[in-house]
Amino acid sequence: MSSQQTGVLISFEGAEGSGKSTQIDRLVTHLEKSGHEVLVTREPGGTEIGEEIRHLLIHSKSNSAMTPEAELLLFAASRAQLVRECILPALTTGKVVICDRFLDSTTVYQGAARSIAMDPVNQINAFAVGDVIPSLTIVLDVPAEVSLSRVKRRASDLPDRMEQENIDFYRLVREGYLILAKSLPERFYVLDGTSAIEELDTAIWEKVKTHLEKKELSCSN
Ligand code: TMP
Repeated sequence: MSSQQTGVLISFEGAEGSGKSTQIDRLVTHLEKSGHEVLVTREPGGTEIGEEIRHLLIHSKSNSAMTPEAELLLFAASRAQLVRECILPALTTGKVVICDRFLDSTTVYQGAARSIAMDPVNQINAFAVGDVIPSLTIVLDVPAEVSLSRVKRRASDLPDRMEQENIDFYRLVREGYLILAKSLPERFYVLDGTSAIEELDTAIWEKVKTHLEKKELSCSN
């Protein structure tokens, strides 16, 4: 990140039903209580253009014919907009930005799970985000069976495009995250997403506090 960015970017990753939203809500409460200004983003979406792309990607009836390549470019387009419209301005004013999914979702879902070659995936990811890379990425790791059953419970009458995937897809997603985390140990922090909510909350807050202290953003508690 450039020196003009005084904020800190933290991303949450994991398969469907890994409990990211619950833990993000809890982390935001901790951060705000200790005096930090926080921005939470969700992908795909988070901007007007991004929400339209989200609809196209996830809910549109016409998307069943979408190729993996088109899907990759749409996720990247949504992120490129989000970075410039929301994330960069927040980082420039010293906020802690929490991303509910970021570029690693593309590496894992489109690269590892949909088998697009990693070279174009990495190049497109890099083009979309520029130098805006999280300094900490928290992965909530859950078995594929847990993802699938949580997705089925969550899905309404008409499951969305991503929710129609089968168990093998979620196995590839899980494996993709674990391989990526292993290759970038200085950025990734992997937790067992099946642990108790309170236990995860404590582990995440401890990790984030230490991370912010290292980044010289003081926490008061
Ligand atoms: P969510 O809002 O429940 O996290 O759903 C977003 C879906 O989009 C989820 O299935 C993961 C998928 N996705 C990708 O395939 N690639 C991406 O780059 C991102 C951000 C999400």
